[in-house]
Amino acid sequence: MSIQPIGIFDSGIGGTSIFKEIKALLPHEHTIYLADSFNAPYGNKSKEEIIALSIKNTELLIAKDCKLIVVACNTATTNAIKTLRDTYDLPFIGIEPAIKPAALSTQTKAIGILATKGTLTSELFHKTTDLYSHGIQVIEQVGEGIVTLIEDGRTNSEEMKILLQTYLKPMLDANIDYLVLGCTHYPYLIPLLLDMLPNHVKIIDSGEAVARQTKSVLELHQLLNKQTSTAINQFYTNGNVDVLKDILDENYNVDYLRF
Ligand code: DGL
Repeated sequence: MSIQPIGIFDSGIGGTSIFKEIKALLPHEHTIYLADSFNAPYGNKSKEEIIALSIKNTELLIAKDCKLIVVACNTATTNAIKTLRDTYDLPFIGIEPAIKPAALSTQTKAIGILATKGTLTSELFHKTTDLYSHGIQVIEQVGEGIVTLIEDGRTNSEEMKILLQTYLKPMLDANIDYLVLGCTHYPYLIPLLLDMLPNHVKIIDSGEAVARQTKSVLELHQLLNKQTSTAINQFYTNGNVDVLKDILDENYNVDYLRF
Protein backbone atom coordinates (compact mmCIF):
# COMPACT_ATOMS: atom_id res chain seq x y z
CA MET A 1 0.00 0.00 0.00
CA SER A 2 1.27 3.48 -0.81
CA ILE A 3 -0.19 6.92 -0.32
CA GLN A 4 2.29 8.48 -2.77
CA PRO A 5 0.66 10.20 -5.75
CA ILE A 6 0.22 8.87 -9.28
CA GLY A 7 2.06 11.12 -11.76
CA ILE A 8 0.40 11.91 -15.08
CA PHE A 9 1.91 13.92 -17.91
CA ASP A 10 0.92 15.03 -21.39
CA SER A 11 2.16 17.54 -23.94
CA GLY A 12 -0.69 19.69 -22.70
CA ILE A 13 -4.26 19.54 -21.47
CA GLY A 14 -5.37 16.45 -23.46
CA GLY A 15 -4.17 13.97 -20.84
CA THR A 16 -6.89 15.29 -18.54
CA SER A 17 -9.19 12.93 -20.48
CA ILE A 18 -7.07 10.12 -18.99
CA PHE A 19 -6.94 11.78 -15.57
CA LYS A 20 -10.77 11.73 -15.52
CA GLU A 21 -10.88 8.00 -16.35
CA ILE A 22 -8.33 7.28 -13.61
CA LYS A 23 -10.29 9.30 -11.05
CA ALA A 24 -13.52 7.50 -11.98
CA LEU A 25 -11.87 4.17 -11.21
CA LEU A 26 -9.48 5.15 -8.42
CA PRO A 27 -11.11 8.11 -6.65
CA HIS A 28 -8.93 7.88 -3.53
CA GLU A 29 -5.57 8.00 -5.28
CA HIS A 30 -3.63 11.25 -4.99
CA THR A 31 -2.49 12.58 -8.37
CA ILE A 32 -0.12 15.12 -9.87
CA TYR A 33 -0.81 16.23 -13.44
CA LEU A 34 1.78 17.98 -15.60
CA ALA A 35 0.64 19.81 -18.74
CA ASP A 36 3.70 20.60 -20.85
CA SER A 37 1.65 23.04 -22.93
CA PHE A 38 4.64 25.31 -23.51
CA ASN A 39 6.12 22.55 -25.69
CA ALA A 40 2.87 21.42 -27.35
CA PRO A 41 2.37 19.98 -29.85
CA TYR A 42 4.76 17.06 -29.44
CA GLY A 43 3.32 15.47 -32.56
CA ASN A 44 5.56 17.34 -35.01
CA LYS A 45 8.78 16.93 -33.02
CA SER A 46 11.55 14.40 -33.64
CA LYS A 47 11.75 11.18 -31.65
CA GLU A 48 14.82 12.56 -29.85
CA GLU A 49 12.99 15.72 -28.82
CA ILE A 50 9.97 13.73 -27.61
CA ILE A 51 12.26 11.48 -25.54
CA ALA A 52 14.05 14.51 -24.02
CA LEU A 53 10.73 16.17 -23.08
CA SER A 54 9.37 12.91 -21.64
CA ILE A 55 12.51 12.54 -19.49
CA LYS A 56 12.12 16.13 -18.25
CA ASN A 57 8.49 15.50 -17.25
CA THR A 58 9.31 12.15 -15.66
CA GLU A 59 12.11 13.59 -13.53
CA LEU A 60 9.84 16.32 -12.23
CA LEU A 61 7.18 13.76 -11.26
CA ILE A 62 9.79 11.55 -9.60
CA ALA A 63 11.07 14.60 -7.68
CA LYS A 64 7.48 15.06 -6.50
CA ASP A 65 7.55 11.52 -5.10
CA CYS A 66 5.22 9.79 -7.57
CA LYS A 67 4.91 6.01 -7.25
CA LEU A 68 3.86 5.34 -10.85
CA ILE A 69 3.75 7.47 -13.98
CA VAL A 70 1.00 7.52 -16.58
CA VAL A 71 2.28 8.79 -19.90
CA ALA A 72 -1.09 10.26 -20.92
CA CYS A 73 0.08 11.02 -24.43
CA ASN A 74 0.09 8.63 -27.40
CA THR A 75 2.95 10.54 -29.02
CA ALA A 76 5.17 10.31 -25.94
CA THR A 77 4.23 6.67 -25.34
CA THR A 78 4.92 5.48 -28.87
CA ASN A 79 8.24 7.34 -29.04
CA ALA A 80 9.62 7.40 -25.52
CA ILE A 81 8.14 4.80 -23.17
CA LYS A 82 10.81 2.20 -23.88
CA THR A 83 13.55 4.68 -22.91
CA LEU A 84 11.62 5.68 -19.78
CA ARG A 85 11.13 2.06 -18.72
CA ASP A 86 14.80 1.28 -19.39
CA THR A 87 15.97 4.34 -17.43
CA TYR A 88 13.76 4.59 -14.36
CA ASP A 89 12.87 2.16 -11.67
CA LEU A 90 9.15 2.83 -11.25
CA PRO A 91 6.18 1.50 -13.24
CA PHE A 92 5.02 3.38 -16.35
CA ILE A 93 1.61 3.11 -17.97
CA GLY A 94 1.39 4.21 -21.59
CA ILE A 95 -1.39 4.85 -24.06
CA GLU A 96 -1.57 3.65 -27.65
CA PRO A 97 -4.31 3.98 -30.28
CA ALA A 98 -6.99 1.30 -29.88
CA ILE A 99 -6.34 -0.34 -33.25
CA LYS A 100 -6.87 -3.87 -31.94
CA PRO A 101 -10.51 -3.59 -30.75
CA ALA A 102 -11.46 -1.61 -33.87
CA ALA A 103 -9.78 -4.11 -36.22
CA LEU A 104 -11.40 -7.07 -34.45
CA SER A 105 -14.89 -5.53 -34.54
CA THR A 106 -15.15 -3.84 -37.93
CA GLN A 107 -17.88 -5.14 -40.23
CA THR A 108 -17.05 -2.91 -43.18
CA LYS A 109 -13.39 -3.97 -43.01
CA ALA A 110 -12.32 -0.34 -42.91
CA ILE A 111 -11.27 1.65 -39.85
CA GLY A 112 -10.06 5.20 -39.47
CA ILE A 113 -7.33 6.42 -37.16
CA LEU A 114 -6.79 10.03 -36.27
CA ALA A 115 -3.52 10.72 -34.44
CA THR A 116 -0.45 12.92 -34.49
CA LYS A 117 2.35 12.59 -37.02
CA GLY A 118 4.67 11.46 -34.20
CA THR A 119 2.35 8.58 -33.33
CA LEU A 120 1.53 7.50 -36.88
CA THR A 121 5.20 7.41 -37.89
CA SER A 122 6.39 5.57 -34.77
CA GLU A 123 7.72 2.02 -34.86
CA LEU A 124 5.41 0.94 -32.05
CA PHE A 125 2.31 2.10 -33.95
CA HIS A 126 3.44 0.26 -37.09
CA LYS A 127 4.07 -2.92 -35.15
CA THR A 128 0.57 -2.91 -33.62
CA THR A 129 -1.09 -1.99 -36.91
CA ASP A 130 0.77 -4.73 -38.83
CA LEU A 131 -0.30 -7.25 -36.24
CA TYR A 132 -4.04 -6.55 -36.41
CA SER A 133 -4.77 -5.09 -39.82
CA HIS A 134 -4.71 -8.14 -42.08
CA GLY A 135 -7.57 -7.93 -44.55
CA ILE A 136 -8.58 -4.52 -43.19
CA GLN A 137 -8.15 -1.10 -44.67
CA VAL A 138 -6.67 1.31 -42.11
CA ILE A 139 -7.13 4.94 -43.10
CA GLU A 140 -4.49 6.90 -41.20
CA GLN A 141 -4.91 10.64 -40.82
CA VAL A 142 -2.59 13.10 -39.12
CA GLY A 143 -4.68 15.54 -37.08
CA GLU A 144 -2.49 18.50 -38.02
CA GLY A 145 -3.55 21.65 -36.13
CA ILE A 146 -6.09 19.99 -33.82
CA VAL A 147 -3.93 19.95 -30.66
CA THR A 148 -2.98 23.61 -31.13
CA LEU A 149 -6.64 24.65 -31.40
CA ILE A 150 -7.56 22.68 -28.26
CA GLU A 151 -4.59 24.16 -26.39
CA ASP A 152 -5.87 27.59 -27.44
CA GLY A 153 -9.30 26.85 -25.98
CA ARG A 154 -10.83 26.71 -29.49
CA THR A 155 -12.16 23.15 -29.37
CA ASN A 156 -15.61 24.02 -30.68
CA SER A 157 -14.55 26.62 -33.22
CA GLU A 158 -15.42 26.92 -36.91
CA GLU A 159 -11.75 26.22 -37.79
CA MET A 160 -11.96 22.95 -35.89
CA LYS A 161 -15.11 21.91 -37.75
CA ILE A 162 -13.45 22.61 -41.09
CA LEU A 163 -10.32 20.64 -40.13
CA LEU A 164 -12.40 17.68 -38.97
CA GLN A 165 -14.51 17.67 -42.12
CA THR A 166 -11.34 17.51 -44.22
CA TYR A 167 -9.81 14.75 -42.10
CA LEU A 168 -12.95 12.62 -41.97
CA LYS A 169 -13.72 12.76 -45.70
CA PRO A 170 -11.27 10.03 -46.88
CA MET A 171 -12.41 7.84 -44.00
CA LEU A 172 -16.08 8.22 -44.84
CA ASP A 173 -15.30 7.65 -48.53
CA ALA A 174 -13.70 4.35 -47.49
CA ASN A 175 -16.84 3.44 -45.50
CA ILE A 176 -15.21 3.10 -42.08
CA ASP A 177 -17.35 1.85 -39.21
CA TYR A 178 -14.80 2.60 -36.45
CA LEU A 179 -12.92 5.81 -35.79
CA VAL A 180 -9.97 5.39 -33.44
CA LEU A 181 -8.96 8.51 -31.53
CA GLY A 182 -5.19 8.14 -31.18
CA CYS A 183 -4.44 11.27 -29.19
CA THR A 184 -5.54 12.10 -25.66
CA HIS A 185 -6.68 15.56 -26.73
CA TYR A 186 -9.22 14.10 -29.16
CA PRO A 187 -11.90 12.76 -26.75
CA TYR A 188 -12.79 16.45 -26.29
CA LEU A 189 -13.87 16.42 -29.96
CA ILE A 190 -16.46 13.69 -29.46
CA PRO A 191 -19.49 16.05 -29.34
CA LEU A 192 -18.41 17.61 -32.66
CA LEU A 193 -17.57 14.24 -34.20
CA LEU A 194 -20.95 12.79 -33.25
CA ASP A 195 -22.60 15.58 -35.23
CA MET A 196 -20.42 14.87 -38.27
CA LEU A 197 -20.30 11.09 -38.41
CA PRO A 198 -23.06 8.79 -39.66
CA ASN A 199 -24.74 6.82 -36.85
CA HIS A 200 -23.09 3.52 -37.70
CA VAL A 201 -19.56 4.85 -37.12
CA LYS A 202 -18.36 4.11 -33.61
CA ILE A 203 -15.72 6.22 -31.91
CA ILE A 204 -13.19 4.51 -29.66
CA ASP A 205 -10.30 5.67 -27.54
CA SER A 206 -8.06 3.99 -24.99
CA GLY A 207 -8.86 6.07 -21.88
CA GLU A 208 -10.81 3.46 -19.93
CA ALA A 209 -8.30 0.74 -20.76
CA VAL A 210 -5.48 2.94 -19.42
CA ALA A 211 -7.34 3.47 -16.15
CA ARG A 212 -7.92 -0.29 -15.78
CA GLN A 213 -4.26 -0.98 -16.54
CA THR A 214 -3.19 1.64 -13.98
CA LYS A 215 -5.28 -0.12 -11.35
CA SER A 216 -3.92 -3.57 -12.12
CA VAL A 217 -0.29 -2.42 -12.16
CA LEU A 218 -0.79 -0.66 -8.79
CA GLU A 219 -2.29 -3.89 -7.44
CA LEU A 220 0.53 -5.96 -8.87
CA HIS A 221 3.16 -3.78 -7.17
CA GLN A 222 1.08 -3.45 -4.00
CA LEU A 223 0.96 0.29 -4.49
CA LEU A 224 -2.79 0.94 -4.24
CA ASN A 225 -3.80 3.62 -1.78
CA LYS A 226 -6.23 1.84 0.53
CA GLN A 227 -7.08 4.99 2.48
CA THR A 228 -10.51 6.46 1.79
CA SER A 229 -9.76 10.07 2.68
CA THR A 230 -10.34 12.78 0.07
CA ALA A 231 -7.68 12.67 -2.60
CA ILE A 232 -5.36 15.57 -3.33
CA ASN A 233 -5.18 16.29 -7.07
CA GLN A 234 -2.51 18.76 -8.09
CA PHE A 235 -2.26 20.33 -11.54
CA TYR A 236 0.73 22.13 -12.99
CA THR A 237 1.03 23.78 -16.36
CA ASN A 238 3.77 25.77 -18.06
CA GLY A 239 1.09 27.22 -20.36
CA ASN A 240 -2.28 28.88 -19.83
CA VAL A 241 -3.71 28.14 -16.36
CA ASP A 242 -7.27 29.09 -17.36
CA VAL A 243 -7.40 26.75 -20.35
CA LEU A 244 -6.39 23.81 -18.15
CA LYS A 245 -8.85 24.86 -15.45
CA ASP A 246 -11.67 25.09 -18.01
CA ILE A 247 -11.21 21.57 -19.31
CA LEU A 248 -11.42 19.99 -15.84
CA ASP A 249 -14.92 19.02 -14.69
CA GLU A 250 -14.33 20.08 -11.11
CA ASN A 251 -12.96 23.29 -9.73
CA TYR A 252 -9.42 22.05 -9.11
CA ASN A 253 -6.59 24.33 -8.21
CA VAL A 254 -4.16 24.77 -11.13
CA ASP A 255 -0.69 26.22 -10.66
CA TYR A 256 1.64 27.74 -13.18
CA LEU A 257 5.09 26.16 -13.03
CA ARG A 258 8.08 26.69 -15.26
CA PHE A 259 9.44 23.30 -16.29
N1 DGL B 1 -2.09 14.33 -26.26
C1 DGL B 1 -1.01 14.03 -27.17
C2 DGL B 1 -1.18 12.63 -27.73
O1 DGL B 1 -1.90 11.83 -27.15
C3 DGL B 1 -0.90 15.15 -28.15
C4 DGL B 1 0.40 15.17 -28.84
C5 DGL B 1 0.83 16.51 -29.33
O2 DGL B 1 1.13 17.35 -28.49
O3 DGL B 1 0.96 16.67 -30.55
O4 DGL B 1 -0.60 12.27 -28.73
